[in-house]
Amino acid sequence: MNILGISAHYHDSAAALLVDGLPVAAVQEERLSRRKNDAAFPVRAIEWCLDEAGLSPANLDAVVFYEKPMLKFERILTMALREWPHSFKSFPHAMKSSLGEKLWVKGVIRSWLGVAPDKILFSEHHLSHAAAAFLTAPTRDSAILTADGVGEWATLTVGRGRRDHEGRTEIDIFREIRFPHSLGMLYSAFTAFLGFAVNEGEYKVMGLAAYGKPRFADDVRRTIRRTGDGAFRLDMRFFEYQRSAKRSYSRRFVDTFGAPRPYWDALDPTAGDGQRYADIAASVQLVLEETMVDIARTLQRETHLPDLCLGGGVALNGVCNARILRDCGFERVFVPSAPGDAGCALGAALVADRIHFGNPDRAIPDHPYWGPRIDAAELARLARDDGIDLREMESEEALLHQVALDLYAGKIVGWMDGRTEFGPRALGSRSILSAPHTTAQRDRLNRSIKFREEFRPFAPAVPAEAASTYFELPPGGDRMASFMSGVFRVRTEHRAKLAAVTHVDGTARLQTVDGGVAPRFHALLEAYGRISGIPVLLNTSFNLAGEPIVNSAVEGYSTFRRSGIDRLVAGRTIVSKNRKDRISEKGVPEDVEDAAQ
Ligand SMILES: [Fe+2]
Repeated sequence: MNILGISAHYHDSAAALLVDGLPVAAVQEERLSRRKNDAAFPVRAIEWCLDEAGLSPANLDAVVFYEKPMLKFERILTMALREWPHSFKSFPHAMKSSLGEKLWVKGVIRSWLGVAPDKILFSEHHLSHAAAAFLTAPTRDSAILTADGVGEWATLTVGRGRRDHEGRTEIDIFREIRFPHSLGMLYSAFTAFLGFAVNEGEYKVMGLAAYGKPRFADDVRRTIRRTGDGAFRLDMRFFEYQRSAKRSYSRRFVDTFGAPRPYWDALDPTAGDGQRYADIAASVQLVLEETMVDIARTLQRETHLPDLCLGGGVALNGVCNARILRDCGFERVFVPSAPGDAGCALGAALVADRIHFGNPDRAIPDHPYWGPRIDAAELARLARDDGIDLREMESEEALLHQVALDLYAGKIVGWMDGRTEFGPRALGSRSILSAPHTTAQRDRLNRSIKFREEFRPFAPAVPAEAASTYFELPPGGDRMASFMSGVFRVRTEHRAKLAAVTHVDGTARLQTVDGGVAPRFHALLEAYGRISGIPVLLNTSFNLAGEPIVNSAVEGYSTFRRSGIDRLVAGRTIVSKNRKDRISEKGVPEDVEDAAQ
């Protein structure tokens, strides 16, 4: 059975294809359209998924959309009427936006794919999140908690997933919290207040929080009232998003927290207003964690299960995820590689397969590499055409050794390998790699390559079996760390040598690399360990600020040419930028020969 899942029209659209119950392809539209957070109907992603499997639309048994547009429209209409007359300015915009492609999704799917109407199905938004989290996780019986900005009505759900030995699958959603009461919207309101782009800058708030003290926590708690059943209600007098498409917080909010940060102002979290912004970030981060911990702890007491699957955009908050693992009584916590709306494309396809059609459960390979493959020959061709230094290494071992030497010499390497990751994080397929040892290296990356705020931390990658040597990784956090979904402490004795990847509070959002799942990246870390003594590399996504992560060799090459990246690698090909940096005949740059001995 061939089932196509689609998420679209909000942000970060994507497509995923299941063949006989297993994913064969999944990719976000932005990687192919090259428009960051592309929300358009994912024509390119669908086309690529079908091509990858050698299928045409006529071969599809079902096409599943990740949410129910009519329910979403009902919510938008209800809110507009409830907030009338305050919503009168946003009403025409909301109606126009909803009555366009969003509401007539069935017609859009039919017109693009030509499939029969009875083959088009709709999942519910949070059920898609729940399925993406639970059905891809290595567990048979698990509590499930999903939280995001909003889907149709739900903004947070709790439930349980079960897969029995006969292959039957059940996902029960016990309870939900409805719009406008939303942890995702609360965090986004603070994201906007702190001068960052909503749906994109939430990472920055989390990074900034580490610099602050939560001295505004009681003020944040006034905006979110806890209810007796462990849930919450927002005090909507502090917010505007329920009635406005443009403003997310109200005058009362500004009276409480002070002037918002203009987005164009430089931000130094250690001085002046920057300190206040950092304190506000620390405060909302703390209140988010407290609320999620209480809800997850209640769910654990209710289900008595050892496992928890987390889904929805809030599960991108690695600090919160790690605290849930530590404080709620669960032994293991699982977060998928794409917990946000893009992942709902895969979740919706799984809902259709396992629940709607009742097909038997199949264990899904536990990795994020479902996207397009890199073509190393294309990189070699581009470099030759441009007359850029290029070297084809004679063996895999020689290549890994050479790249490790370059990294140890302080070179910054664009690393393209295999199939792209499904989800927002680079996990060794499309990564910029660097030595993790000094803050000078971190600053160079920020200034000449990533062009981003200096308070944002970089992440380390480490072989799974060496992780506990360098990081305080609790056993139940293994899977979280393999998808870079949790923030854990760097062991004190290693912080000085891991300065480029240790955040100001002594933590890191590490990625553990399993040799069975990502053998080449794992081998590179080991090769680096043999040379440097520490098998840890700085790993950041292969993109420049404002651009999607690179997909093909040409995009990697273009990014390499436009930035301070020193080397670019795909397959056995190493491309170097500067003639003076040319790799010597012995394969060792001169300045490394001494260091490597
Ligand atoms: Fe969502």
